[in-house]
Amino acid sequence: MYEHLTSPITIGGMQLRNRIAMSAMGVEIAEEEGHAREPIIAYYEERARGGVGLIITEVAAVAYPRGANAQRQLAVSNDDYLPGLQELTDRVHRHGAKIALQMVHHGKQSRLDTKQGRPVLMPSMPRFKGAMDMANDLSREEIGWLMAATGGERATVKEADAEDIAWVIDAFAGAAERARRAGFDAVELHSAHGYLLSEFLSPAWNFREDEYGGSRENRARLLCEVIQAAKQRAGADFPIWARLDCREFRTPGGITPEDAARTAELAAEAGADAIHITAYADATSGVAFTEGPLAHRESAYVEETALVKSRIDIPVIAVGRIEPDVADRLIRDGKADVIAMARKLLADPEVAQKLSEGRPEDIRPCIYCYTCVAQPFFDRAVRCAVNPMTAREGALGSSEREISATPKRVVVVGGGPSGLEAARLARLRGHDVVLLEKSAQLGGTLRFASLVYEPNERLLDWLVGQVRKLGVDIRLETEATVEKIREIAPDEVLVAAGASRAKPDLPGVDRDHVFDGDDLRALLTGQEDGEASKKLSLLGRIAVLAGRATGITTSPGRLREASRAYMPVGKAVVVVGGGLVGLELAEFLAERGRRVTILEEGPKFGLEMAHPRRWRVLDDLRKHGVELVAGAQIRSITEDSVDYDVRVGKGESEARSTAVDTVILAIGLGPNPGVAATLKGTGVPIKEIGDVTGVGYLEGAIHDGFRAALEL
Ligand SMILES: Cc1cc2nc3c(=O)[nH]c(=O)nc-3n(C[C@H](O)[C@H](O)[C@H](O)COP(=O)(O)O)c2cc1C
Ligand code: SF4
Repeated sequence: MYEHLTSPITIGGMQLRNRIAMSAMGVEIAEEEGHAREPIIAYYEERARGGVGLIITEVAAVAYPRGANAQRQLAVSNDDYLPGLQELTDRVHRHGAKIALQMVHHGKQSRLDTKQGRPVLMPSMPRFKGAMDMANDLSREEIGWLMAATGGERATVKEADAEDIAWVIDAFAGAAERARRAGFDAVELHSAHGYLLSEFLSPAWNFREDEYGGSRENRARLLCEVIQAAKQRAGADFPIWARLDCREFRTPGGITPEDAARTAELAAEAGADAIHITAYADATSGVAFTEGPLAHRESAYVEETALVKSRIDIPVIAVGRIEPDVADRLIRDGKADVIAMARKLLADPEVAQKLSEGRPEDIRPCIYCYTCVAQPFFDRAVRCAVNPMTAREGALGSSEREISATPKRVVVVGGGPSGLEAARLARLRGHDVVLLEKSAQLGGTLRFASLVYEPNERLLDWLVGQVRKLGVDIRLETEATVEKIREIAPDEVLVAAGASRAKPDLPGVDRDHVFDGDDLRALLTGQEDGEASKKLSLLGRIAVLAGRATGITTSPGRLREASRAYMPVGKAVVVVGGGLVGLELAEFLAERGRRVTILEEGPKFGLEMAHPRRWRVLDDLRKHGVELVAGAQIRSITEDSVDYDVRVGKGESEARSTAVDTVILAIGLGPNPGVAATLKGTGVPIKEIGDVTGVGYLEGAIHDGFRAALEL
């Protein structure tokens, strides 16, 4: 199992214990001015402890603050940085991993230059204008945060002259030499993602007519000269490689796989010890960001990577949402030599160790929600929705390894994400945990969320698998009554009973073709449906019963497939509420042939989603022909229409009506204090966690559950 992925390899003279590399991630937890101290050292150390063969650090600025993107990114621009970097490499080496420093000049994206009044350095004056749609789906607040990253200043451009080019080469070479002195095993040149070196490589950004522009060879000249100079300064035996884009999506005239293959050949001739293949896209387009560099598609660039590999004799590193099984096959089939993983290692630093021990089911899965990568846009420290310890390893990293000195008997009420996470961590830390779940299945809102968005199902399976494996006493179809709690006699009760749902006060809201979240969840996931199935036609009722009888409703994956054939939802659907729940549901329905209109009262959609995920979902919805109506005030729901007013200007609105077969209410979630209030009568200390205290979605639920378990 994973024998190829877990086998050793040598890059240059550097020996790796396995072929899993942590891909570079800017996490913005270095000190101001770019020094490596806690917490960034603890963050990398945790990934080294988790078994990766190689860590590639985040972007380290070679001439900080010149050519830097953020105040808190790593820097390697002079010897003052060495003590911190030395501590970093020492701590990583302690765990048997190797570490490469990713070196960068951010070119057009040097936000610190703009903030501090310097022009940004580029190969040529830009001509490509781009889609310019990035801000369209952001809130005003988010646009404000984005602007704050450049101090509200607009970038000015300096076209690199001969002196600048010589300075760039010297800065990279000096940085490589310092990296070696700081104990790094190698360096990666960031020559991708629209930063300076890749702007020279790209025909969409480089219009020079000197020896650094024009032909592929000329465009690759700067990169090759940097490689040669770095080798000369740091030593010919010091491994150096380049990260290259195989495509620039949505960029007319941008880099092609053939360009990348030729650049890779030239880099190899110049002395590169490996090539790392990634991708870029139009940086002014929101959704493009989820094609390159932050791939939404699984195995996004593997064919392009294989093409490059077929043309060179040095190792090739692949990246882009590569699952372990695919990773192993890619290496077996000679399509890549090393697999870099980024988000997976934020979600679980122990991916490599768990794979080499043959227990992939224990890996906490990334749900591709983009919360992590949304933060650096706004100059904020990274965080992970499913792993509360990420970027807080110094303070929390050992939480899962520490057994509590005062083990308690704990009841967790509610088997949704917050309850499951609390039960998992509490049990892991040695507490005796009883989990009470009212329905017949674990998962709560996560089960429904799994139906509409597949990566959530992996998280559901992981949470359920972990609480079972750990021996949590799970009692399904068990209501948490005062008597029940007294009978179990716990030291503490954690109430994770989920949010309450209030129906909006609208004419027509009680009609049979109007379903709220509870109805739909009950019907689709086979949970106790109260009144919901009474609203269905005979055929609908039979289908729901059949689903339950065959067990389909217990598996989100099977249900997702079955729902392509039948769902208790008409052809024309209005979803009321364009938040996270409404959007994901609308996508699910549109993919199943429904004609969907989303009515949102506010001016923007999906603001609870991290904005890159929002870009992705909104683009998918628009492609599916879903009508998105913002500023909609519903007047009434009739037998066959939803009537509403839409704001069309200042103080003006227009009356509209949309024909409908089914209306789904994706609004009305709120705090749910009832369960805790009832259980107060037990006299046992009670803590409320997750959505009962106010809707926090998956991230809020998991982080809350984690915190509560730690505080027991
Ligand atoms: C939070 C975050 C920050 C990133 N910062 C960098 C960076 O500093 N340098 C870089 O080359 N790529 C950066 N990336 C891209 C990753 O290295 C990687 O190519 C991308 O996430 C796709 O890999 P994955 O699907 O395994 O996450 C970043 C990704 C994330 C999630
Ligand atoms: S924040 Fe979301 S996308 Fe990022 S690593 Fe965590 S789960 Fe994955």
